[in-house]
Amino acid sequence: MKILVTGGTGYIGSHTCVELLENGYEVVIVDNLVNSKREVVDYIKEITNKDVTFYEGDVCDKELMRKIFKENAIDAVIHFAGLKAVGESVQKPLMYYRNNIDSTLTLCEVMDEVGCRKIVFSSSATVYGSPKSLPIKEDFPLSTTNPYGSTKLYIEGILRDLYTSNNDWSIALLRYFNPIGAHKSGLIGENPNDIPNNLMPYIVKVATKELEILSVYGNDYDTKDGTGVRDYIHVVDLAKAHVKAIEKVLKDRGVDAYNLGTGHGYSVLEIVETFKRVNNIDVPYKIVGRRPGDIAACYADPSYAKEKLGWEAEKEIDEMCKDSYNFVKQHKG
Ligand code: NAD
Ligand code: UFG
Repeated sequence: MKILVTGGTGYIGSHTCVELLENGYEVVIVDNLVNSKREVVDYIKEITNKDVTFYEGDVCDKELMRKIFKENAIDAVIHFAGLKAVGESVQKPLMYYRNNIDSTLTLCEVMDEVGCRKIVFSSSATVYGSPKSLPIKEDFPLSTTNPYGSTKLYIEGILRDLYTSNNDWSIALLRYFNPIGAHKSGLIGENPNDIPNNLMPYIVKVATKELEILSVYGNDYDTKDGTGVRDYIHVVDLAKAHVKAIEKVLKDRGVDAYNLGTGHGYSVLEIVETFKRVNNIDVPYKIVGRRPGDIAACYADPSYAKEKLGWEAEKEIDEMCKDSYNFVKQHKG
C-alpha cells in the first residue's frame, strides 16, 4: 500500500513516515519545506533503512499534485501540510486561510479526479475552543479563537461535506492534543529556527542556553498549581495513531473525528520540574502574566480512538521530556 504524506518532512509527518515504513507501507512525501528541511528525508531513510519518494513543492499546486498521483498509485493520503503558528495566524490571517484551506481543496479535488478518496487529516484540539468541562470528548461543541483554529474547523466541515456528497469517501479527522518528544535516534524531532511559541521547544532552548529564561504565562488559573494544564503526547505515539487511522480509512468508509491524547493533564510547572529531573539540567523560569487566548486546562478523553482505532498512547511524561532534549543535544552536535 502506498501512502502520500503531505507535510511529511515536518515534525509529526516525519515520525509518521517512519512508522508507516516500519509497518510495511510505501511512502511518497510532498513538502514545500517552508517549515522543515530536506535532510529529514535522509534521516527517515536512515532510521528505517527503506526508500522514500520525495517531491519538493506546494500542495496548492494542482499540476504538481496531478503529477504525483499520475506517477504513483496512491492508496490513501495523510494531510499534514499546513501552517501552524497561532500568533502568526492572527497577524497574517489571509496567508493562513490561503495556505491551509487552498492546499486541502486542491488535494481533495485531485484525489476526487483520480478516485483516491481515503484521507487522514491533521486537526487539533484547538477546535474545542474553551471546553465547558474536562476531559474533552469528540461530541463537545466546536469553536475557535484564532484564524489557525478556524482553518482546522473549516477544513473539518469541508471534509464532512465531501463525504455527504459522495459516500465513497473515507475520512479520519485526528484532533491532536500537545505533541512533544522525538524519535529515540535523535535524528528527527522539533527544533524551530525562530523563537518558539510552544512550551517544550522553549524549555529545550532555555536548557541549551540559546534562550535565557522561560516565561510561565500565569499562575492564577483554576488548576492544581495555578499554571496551565495540557495533555502532552509523545510524537511517536501520535505517529502510531496515524498508522491505525490509515488502516481504518483503507478498510471502511465514512467520516469520523478522534481525540489523540493521553487523557492526563500536566501543568507548566510539572513539565518544567520533570524536564529538570530527567535531564539533570536547570531551566530558569519566571512567572509572567497570562498569554492572551490561553485556556486554563485542556485534556482528552481518548477512549473513542481506543475503541474505534485500537490505539492508545503508551509513553509517559518522563520519556517525552528526555526524548525532546536528546534530539536537540544530538542534533546540535
Ligand atoms: P510542521 O510545520 O513541522 O509540519 C508541517 C509541514 O507542512 C512542514 O514541513 C511544512 O514545510 C509543510 N507545508 C506547509 N504548507 C505547505 C504547503 N502548502 N505545501 C507543502 N508543504 C507545506 O508542523 P507539525 O507540528 O508537524 O504539524 C503537522 C500538522 O499537524 C499541521 O497541519 C498542524 O497544524 C497540525 N497540528 C500540529 C500540532 C502541534 O502542536 N504540533 C497540534 C495540532 C495540530
Ligand atoms: N506556556 C508557557 N510559556 C511558554 C509557552 C507556553 O507558560 O513560553 C504555557 C501556555 O500558557 C500553556 C502551556 O504552556 O499553558 C502549553 O502551551 P503551548 O503553546 O505549548 O500549547 P497550546 O496548548 O497553547 O497550543 C498547542 C498548539 C496549538 C494547538 C493546541 C492543541 O500550539 O496549535 O496545542 O493541540 F491547537
